[in-house]
Amino acid sequence: MDTQQIQKKYDNLAKNKYVENYEYHRWFKSSPAKTGYIMTLKAIKGHFLNGKKFKGSYFELGPGAGTWTRVMHENSEFDSLKLVDVSENMLEQAKNNLKDFNDIDYTVSNFLDYIPNKKYDVFFSSRVLEYIPDKQEAVKKIFDMLNNNGEGYLITKTPKDFINKLLKRKNSRMHQGQVKACRLKCIFKEVGFREVTEYPVTISVPVFKSNIINRLVHFILYRLPLNKLSGFLSESYAIKFKK
Ligand SMILES: C[S@@+](CC[C@H](N)C(=O)[O-])C[C@H]1O[C@@H](n2cnc3c(N)ncnc32)[C@H](O)[C@@H]1O
Repeated sequence: MDTQQIQKKYDNLAKNKYVENYEYHRWFKSSPAKTGYIMTLKAIKGHFLNGKKFKGSYFELGPGAGTWTRVMHENSEFDSLKLVDVSENMLEQAKNNLKDFNDIDYTVSNFLDYIPNKKYDVFFSSRVLEYIPDKQEAVKKIFDMLNNNGEGYLITKTPKDFINKLLKRKNSRMHQGQVKACRLKCIFKEVGFREVTEYPVTISVPVFKSNIINRLVHFILYRLPLNKLSGFLSESYAIKFKK
């Protein structure tokens, strides 16, 4: 799917299917959704926030309804926050959900077309990179928009190549842009980032389809950098980096 199709898809989701409540449907409606929320929250707090209060300027790519913006905002002391999303309707939901904060600036744009007018101290993105066709260009853009010593945390979905091959299943058109953790790590390093570490974010143990088992395995694995086991079991992973 190209970016225009992605934009239409999210505009349509926010405007017609999940009117004013994309966040509820995505993260709270069902038990698996809530489990995904809890695991992601633990990952962001454990790997990135880690008890410290970020300061300075914050940039978030693809906030959707602003679910993680709220978490980042409430646990930091940012001077300014900038949110860029290709879907205007999604950003409307973010504005509504984050209306208590008056220091957030919203821009509708495709990330690759966006020209920042300043540099940022913190970059964050959850589940967006898989929709961006050119990963190298996206990562270079993140590098250029960060101040020296700027830090970032990016969550993306794990490609299920092995399982798909095993089950003779094809990746859906929407999810063909998923990138392997080892490939993404190389891109971040090639572009010039340092202290590049990857972690599991959400865990999905095949066969069992049990939220309890997923939570238990997550509890054991999520603090450790991504390894063969957590790489295999992760539904999504994060890359943490410094300029
Ligand atoms: C799966 S949602 C994730 C929303 C939110 N970050 C979360 O984790 O709940 C993907 C979001 O990325 C946005 N997006 C996709 N491609 C984009 C692009 N090229 N530039 C900016 N935003 C994009 C979509 O409009 C959508 O809001």
